[in-house]
Parts: sequence; C-alpha cells; structure tokens
Amino acid sequence: MTNALNAWHAEHAYFRQLLDLLHKQVDVFHTGKRPNYQLMLDIISYLQDYSDQVHHPREDVAYARLAKRCPAIELTLVRFGQEHRVIAHAGKSLLNLLNEILGGAIVPRADLEAAAATYIVYYRNHIAKEEEDFVSRAAQALTAEDWEAVRSAVPAGGDPLFGDHPEERYRELRRQIVREAQSET
Ligand SMILES: [Fe+2]
Ligand SMILES: [Fe+2]
Repeated sequence: MTNALNAWHAEHAYFRQLLDLLHKQVDVFHTGKRPNYQLMLDIISYLQDYSDQVHHPREDVAYARLAKRCPAIELTLVRFGQEHRVIAHAGKSLLNLLNEILGGAIVPRADLEAAAATYIVYYRNHIAKEEEDFVSRAAQALTAEDWEAVRSAVPAGGDPLFGDHPEERYRELRRQIVREAQSET
C-alpha cells in the first residue's frame, strides 16, 4: 500500500512537472516567439497515453472503493471522475490544435491560448485537490484488497516516459526534462 501511495504521489509530481514544461512553452508563445510545438504535442500525447489510460482508470476504481467506505465524500469523488473526462476532452482539443499547427494550418492565437490555459489550469487544480482530499483518506481507508483492485484495473505496463523502459518516441521530451532539471540546480 505504501508503494502504491508513493507511486501515486510520484505520478502527480511527474504530471505537474510536465504541466510546468507546457506552461513554459505557452509563455514563449505569449512573447510572440514560436514555441516548441512538437514538445507540447509530446507532453499531451504522453498524458493521454499514460494518465488518461492508466493513472485515471486506476483512480476511478480507487474512488469507487473509497466512496463505499467514506460515503460522506462520495460527491467529491464523483467529481474527480467527471474531471478525468473533462481533462481527456480538453487534451484532445489541444492535441488537435497542435496537430493542425504542425501540419501548417493557421490557427487563431486565441484558440491555442484558451485551449492550453484551460488544460493547464484545470489539470493542476485537479491534481492539487486529489492530493489534498483524496490521497491521505485513501491511505487510511483502503484495504490491501482495494489496492489490488486499483492496481489490476489496468493491465500492468510501464510508464512510457518516466518508467524503467522509456519509449523511443519520448526521447526528446526526456532530454528536455533532464535539461530543465539541470537548469534548476
Ligand atoms: Fe485524477
Ligand atoms: Fe491523479
């Protein structure tokens, strides 16, 4: 269970790190320069691949289990599940815009700004609320059997970016993450 909780916190930290990286590219856009659109696309793709497909489905099982054990917070837990759907939808919209730009289309500046800001702010807020409202309660209330159900909600598979065997398609993104970490030390 401790391992599951540590992994949960670690994934939230990774996602926040990627949202910060995405935010930096949006800041470049605000200065009138061309951001690294491919990097932005890689970030969203990864979050779709891993967060939407693995992290969120596991959380959905955890919320359902926790709601049974703590009915008083059921509404909050239902909201988290709804937010997962909103995040997936907002991610798709942003990814579509980035694909259009990379394909040479002229996309109105305001469309990209709104899509990116919505995604970043909503996602950060979601993670902050989960850390505040959910993770400590889950640690107290969920049983070993619950954690097993959470883990097996999605077939075991590594994190394609931060895992032990990162995928080739995220090589550039990994390099950028390392560069960011070095520039902060
Ligand atoms: Fe979540
Ligand atoms: Fe989460």
